[in-house]
Parts: sequence; structure tokens; C-alpha cells
Amino acid sequence: MISRRALRRGLLLVAVAVVAGCSGPQATATLEASPSTAATSSLASIGDGTLPPAPTFAPTPVPTPTIPEGYTMELPPPRLDSDVSLEAALAGRRSVRDFTSKRLTMEELSQLLWAAQGLTNRWGYRTAPSAGALYPLEVYVVMPDHVLHYLPSHHRAKVHMTGDRRRALQSVALDQTAVGDAAAVIVITGVFSRTEAKYGARAERYVWLEAGHAAQNVLLEAVAIGLGGVPIGAFGDAAVRRVLKLPGDHEPLYLIPVGHPA
Ligand SMILES: Cc1cc2nc3c(=O)[nH]c(=O)nc-3n(C[C@H](O)[C@H](O)[C@H](O)COP(=O)(O)O)c2cc1C
Repeated sequence: MISRRALRRGLLLVAVAVVAGCSGPQATATLEASPSTAATSSLASIGDGTLPPAPTFAPTPVPTPTIPEGYTMELPPPRLDSDVSLEAALAGRRSVRDFTSKRLTMEELSQLLWAAQGLTNRWGYRTAPSAGALYPLEVYVVMPDHVLHYLPSHHRAKVHMTGDRRRALQSVALDQTAVGDAAAVIVITGVFSRTEAKYGARAERYVWLEAGHAAQNVLLEAVAIGLGGVPIGAFGDAAVRRVLKLPGDHEPLYLIPVGHPA
């Protein structure tokens, strides 16, 4: 005869096992193996409800054109607090299409990419929700000297292409100047097959919804750090893919030019 207490304990153990089994693609082992300890150790504590102290750092310029394709760079750890409340960011968000020529710092880039898809706990869950925690979104950022591909698991950015692709991207987005003038264009792409494997035809809806979540995160984060941005849906899919040499299954979903408001 099993006591009620033993039964409860058994159920609890099963629940823990199920939660562990539902972990996203970036599991604990990956996180702990990361050499980016500054970022991962602070992120690992978030799921426990303990917020680490905000790091303080001097602004670092984004590296120059000498960084070759394939190189992976560490991003500064994201700040996890700010003087701007969520309500103030919501009230202050407006589509910004005119930017100064000022570039982003590594810290600003780090915040924007983390807001889009950064990890928020040790199991690899992220800032934006994802159907089945399957994480179909891949995020790129088009900057004056590079196109970077964000690697959420270690909060790093890999140089996908060298050179300035912003004007070429503008030309395939109805020549909207916001795209060419922005300090950075965040490009949200989706790999539909990741979500289709579990949800079949419903996946198409889910991936688009997720792009909306990630885009809003970027836009609100931009406000919180004194930048502005605009979500752009008017572009040629195949042309964007060609301009940015995206892998065949990375479907462009959204462009978000971000910069210092003019
Ligand atoms: C799905 C979607 C696509 C959009 N595409 C564009 C676009 O291609 N170009 C543009 O300038 N603004 C675009 N916008 C921004 C809207 O024009 C803008 O959100 C709207 O005018 C409301 O202004 P607000 O964002 O300042 O509140 C888009 C917005 C959404 C939600």
C-alpha cells in the first residue's frame, strides 16, 4: 500500500522529469559548457527568481570591417534592469523612420538581440514565447560593416557577411529610406520546419505570431535604451534572401530598422 505522502512525492518527481524533458534546444549542459560565463551565469539565475545586479560597462564600438566571415564574437552581457518602466516604453514607442548616422555600441546591439531571442533561464527558454518551445526564429542584424547572425545559446554574434548591405536591403524593401539609414536592421527569419515537425499546418500561424512577439520586444527595448525603430513588412522575400545570402530554410519575416532618432 503506497502512502499518500509517497504518492505525492512520486507525482512531484514525475512532474520535474516532464519539465526537464520539455526543455528547449539549448539545454543546461550547453549553457554550462559555454565559455561566455559572464552572460550565462547571470542568465542562469533568472529562472530562480533572483535578478543579478546590472553590469556596468563603458560603451564598446562595434568592430570594424576587418572581422572576417564566420568569426563569432562575444556580446556584452545584457542589462536586466533599466530606469525606463515597461509602461513608459509602451507609452513612448512610436515608429521611427528617420535616424542620425550614429552607430550602435556593442552594448546596444547586445540589448536588442537579447530582447529579440535571448535566453532567460537555464533550460534555454527565451525572452519571446515559442509554441512548444521549439524556437523557429533566427535573427540577423545588418550593420554598416557586417551582417551578423545571433546565436542565443551563448549570447554571441557570428559574422554572416562582411560589408554594408543596408542600401541593397533598402532597394528590396520598396526603397524605404529607414532601412538604408538605420544603424542596424534587425531581420527576423523563421525556420518553419522546426515548428511543423510538431504542429503540422498550424505551424505557419505559430511562426508568424512568434515573429510578432520578438519584433515587439525589439521595439520596446529600443525605447528603453533611447533608440527608435520601425517594423517593416513591405519587402520582397526572395530578394531579401538573396541580398543577405540567407540559408534556404531561413524565411525572412520582418525587418526592424533601429537607430538614434533624428
Ligand atoms: C505588420 C506591419 C507591417 C508594417 N510595415 C511597415 C512598412 O513596411 N513600412 C513602414 O514604414 N511602416 C510599417 N509598419 C509600421 C506602421 O506603419 C505603424 O506601426 C503604424 O503607422 C502605427 O504607428 P506607430 O507604430 O507609430 O504606432 C508596419 C507595421 C506592422 C504591424
